[in-house]
Amino acid sequence: MSKQNDNRRDFLKKTAIAGTAAAVPCALARSQVHAGSTPSESVVRQPIGLIGAGGMGVGNMSSAKDMVDVVAIADADSGRADSANKRLSEGKADTYKHYQEILDRDDIKIVHIATPDHWHTKPLIEAMYAGKDVYCEKPLTLTIDEGKQIRKVQKETGRIVQVGTQQRSTFDLFTKAVAIVQQGRLGKIKKLTCAIGGAPTSPEIPVAEVPAELDWDLWLGPAPKAEYRFLQQKKKEGQKRAKFNSNCHYEFRWWYEYSGGKLTDWGAHHVDIANWALQLNGQTAGPISIEGTAEHPVEYKDGFAVQKDQYNTANSFDFSVKYANGTEMVIKHNTSNGLLIEGEKGRIFVNRGKLTGGPVEALEDNPLPEDAIQQAYKGLPMEYNERKAHWSNFLHCHREQIEPISDVHSHMQMLNICHLAGISARFGGRKLNWDSKVEQIVGDEQANAFLARPYREGYEIKMPEMASSSSK
Ligand SMILES: NC(=O)c1ccc[n+]([C@@H]2O[C@H](COP(=O)([O-])OP(=O)(O)OC[C@H]3O[C@@H](n4cnc5c(N)ncnc54)[C@H](O)[C@@H]3O)[C@@H](O)[C@H]2O)c1
Repeated sequence: MSKQNDNRRDFLKKTAIAGTAAAVPCALARSQVHAGSTPSESVVRQPIGLIGAGGMGVGNMSSAKDMVDVVAIADADSGRADSANKRLSEGKADTYKHYQEILDRDDIKIVHIATPDHWHTKPLIEAMYAGKDVYCEKPLTLTIDEGKQIRKVQKETGRIVQVGTQQRSTFDLFTKAVAIVQQGRLGKIKKLTCAIGGAPTSPEIPVAEVPAELDWDLWLGPAPKAEYRFLQQKKKEGQKRAKFNSNCHYEFRWWYEYSGGKLTDWGAHHVDIANWALQLNGQTAGPISIEGTAEHPVEYKDGFAVQKDQYNTANSFDFSVKYANGTEMVIKHNTSNGLLIEGEKGRIFVNRGKLTGGPVEALEDNPLPEDAIQQAYKGLPMEYNERKAHWSNFLHCHREQIEPISDVHSHMQMLNICHLAGISARFGGRKLNWDSKVEQIVGDEQANAFLARPYREGYEIKMPEMASSSSK
């Protein structure tokens, strides 16, 4: 622990009292269901541990600031932990380098994981085993095999896990779009097109000195050993800040070692809504194949980038995902970000700014049933909108111990599609036949080798019997 003082003790006392009250199931919350309503009286502040205090961790905690008290922060970069502490907790939270110290605390019942993607599965599984409920950022995994492990442990422990796919909680956009589908206004869905944009490219990024506050080995964690890279660019006219290229903070997205590029960064959002719409349209079976085209900014050999000093995720791609009943999902690099859903009776387009199409216009004369959006939202309370609504949903489900709107099972079902696209991309878009029952690629051992990833020694997932004996 890097800091302890009287202020903190007062702070903890206050939040511990709030936490006790919050554990009482709240019938009131169920009856107060109004999209965009003012804060419900049922909201009781929860003490929370933040793991990963970067852009999204701090952003999420700011969105949820009326509902949570951040009492502990863990980050591999102590500078980031300290600055988040000042910003979120008036400097009164405890700060740590190792998240295990948060998991060891009995006063913290919920944690928020907002680390880079390669650092999601391990802390999520360990948090569930430590008895915590978790809001974990998307994408939950780097591989399909990690998804199997998370589902298994979630079932075994019964912990409540919300995935950070907050588009599900945008009641006037994505939730309404899937409600339109669920109410049969498009008829049977034929095609879904997810336009998610390609990853950026980079110049060669040189090896650089690791900043003093960053524990680079810890940041790398389960990923392969690599050198820290950083390139400061010159500030261009009109830019607020000069850009940089790196293989660390924020930029990890553009390296397969730490992420899936746009295919999981944005795929986790739009493919999620597409898959949700399909399920509400009555189609629960997974896809049977994927094929397409994909280009990377660097040369690839046997599924791996040859160069080690440039962004390596796909910068352009166009995939066709096929289902046994003839439905098609397209995932493509495209500038107009959004999701197009085409059915027998019409089509709608939705993104973070608009919901359009004939069936939307038709609502004027033939509105949706009053409870249609709530029905799509699994009957759960609908307070606030977007990120804050997603947090409100999680905290409600934590109090009631019920499944939240972005559940582990449906997340994995759709993330399998994003990961398959990533595997196919490594081989230029090669066709992969998929058996969704056993979660295996059929007849392609080279591609199947990418269903799992090796964990670097010392950073394996801690199972309960190992948890107390290991130091990392
Ligand atoms: N839901 C959304 O719309 C949305 C938007 C942005 C980011 N995200 C997700 O949030 C996650 C974080 O993204 P970001 O942009 O905030 O990245 P970031 O690099 O800004 O922040 C990640 C933080 O995690 C820290 N970290 C790394 N290893 C750690 C460890 N072992 N323990 C504790 N901290 C560790 C890093 O030092 C860094 O401060 C990603 O998975 C990303 O996909 C989601």
